[in-house]
Amino acid sequence: MQQDIREILIDRYAIQARIFRMAQEIGEAYKDREFLLMPLLTGSIIFVADLVRHLPVRMKIDVLAVSSYRGKVTVNEGARVLYPTTFDVTGKHVLVIDDILDSGRTLMTVTELLKQQGAASIKTCVLLKKKLPIKPAIDADWVGFEIPDEFVVGYGLDFNGYYRNLPDIAVLHKHAMQ
Ligand code: IMP
Ligand code: MG
Repeated sequence: MQQDIREILIDRYAIQARIFRMAQEIGEAYKDREFLLMPLLTGSIIFVADLVRHLPVRMKIDVLAVSSYRGKVTVNEGARVLYPTTFDVTGKHVLVIDDILDSGRTLMTVTELLKQQGAASIKTCVLLKKKLPIKPAIDADWVGFEIPDEFVVGYGLDFNGYYRNLPDIAVLHKHAMQ
C-alpha cells in the first residue's frame, strides 16, 4: 500500500488537531438544541468516529448510504440514497457529515431530501473541500481543510474501495489508479 502513495497531503496529527477545533465549534453551535448527526457512508466513518468523541452534547447518530462513484470512476455522476429507504427527520436539527466536498452534488441531494422530509434545520460538515475553479452546488457550514483539485485517499476516503485505512490523507501515484 505504501508504494502506491505519491504524497501525503495532510498527516494524521494535523487531522486530529483540526477535528478537535471543529468539534468545539459544532458543540458551541448546538449547545442549546439536541441534534441528529447524519454521517454519509462509507467515506465519513473515520472522520465521524473521531469527531463525535470530542462532542460532549446531546445527540443521536443515523447513517445514510449515498452512492456517488462506482468502481474506478473518479468523476461524480450524481448521488443516490441507497440506505435507509425510509427515515424520519421531521422537526429534527440535522448535521450531515461527509468526507469531502467536490462538486457538491452529494450534499445537495441529501440536504434537498432532508428538507422535503421536514427537518427543522440542516447544516453540513466536511473534512475536506476541493478548491475548484467553479463554485460547488452547495457550500458546507464547517470545512476541515481546503485541498487542491486532486483525487485523494485515506482517513476514510477510497479509490475503488481501497485505501480507506490509511491514517493520513494522501495522493496516489498514477500506476495505483489504473
Ligand atoms: P461531490 O458530490 O462531487 O461533492 O462529491 C462528494 C463525494 O464524492 C464524496 O462523498 C466522496 O465519496 C467522493 N469524492 C469526491 N472527491 C473524492 C476524492 O478525491 N477522493 C475520494 N472520494 C472523493
Ligand atoms: Mg463518499
